[in-house]
Amino acid sequence: MSTAKITAADIRAMKGRRRIAALTAYDFPLTKLLDAAGIPLILVGDSLGMVVLGYPDTTHVTLAEMEHHVRAAARARPRALLAADMPFQSYQSPEQALDTARRLVAAGAEAVKAEGGRGILPQVRAILAAGIPFIGHLGMLPQSVLEEKGYHVKGKTDAERINLLADAEALAQAGAFAVVLELVTPPVAREITQKISIPTIGIGAGPNCDGEILVVTDLLGTSPGDIPRHVKKNSQLGQPMRAAVVEWMESVAGKAPEP
Ligand code: KIV
Repeated sequence: MSTAKITAADIRAMKGRRRIAALTAYDFPLTKLLDAAGIPLILVGDSLGMVVLGYPDTTHVTLAEMEHHVRAAARARPRALLAADMPFQSYQSPEQALDTARRLVAAGAEAVKAEGGRGILPQVRAILAAGIPFIGHLGMLPQSVLEEKGYHVKGKTDAERINLLADAEALAQAGAFAVVLELVTPPVAREITQKISIPTIGIGAGPNCDGEILVVTDLLGTSPGDIPRHVKKNSQLGQPMRAAVVEWMESVAGKAPEP
């Protein structure tokens, strides 16, 4: 296996050649572990808010918090491409988007991700024009959870299908190197995958994307909340971790003090 640093162009070139398995990470040890396992794309996702910081959703995550965790992940110096989420309301204009992307890159990110399609194209173009690789995110957009009153599957109607396709094509044409499809119906995810030139990375979008991404704590079974339905098998590491703590605690309690 080559040890060369993985770039956005390498991920882009995986379409049609090798399926992409991507995971999130939020700190130094986990980034090291995923990198040693050979994961090619690691995302410091704003799922950070729920699985690490204890917020109810991603709309509470600040840019300063993202920078802090990107710095920690980047200290692992992964061979994997390290991408970072642009947090809620940090890319409302092209100027603000570029400033946010530059701050995440200064913290150690090698690519940035933001939610939306044609509605954020001026922002995407500004980021790409500055030479910062961009990954799109379409379908269910977690940062819209309050507006949309929950997390809903997308692509069920013809209007949604047409919009998703147009957004994916626009992002690909603008120069995004990949696009995440979250909770998109499997037939629509497959159609997008067949029609666009860049890799699609699905999460709860069926088996026909060019790759898949998961929140790492969902895969390991250590997420504090419910594990989403699209995670078919998780390692349930939460249980043995708790058992180790209980065993140690009981050993401490059972030890008689030395005379
Ligand atoms: O924040 C996140 O974890 C994501 C997913 C696509 C995994 O955006």
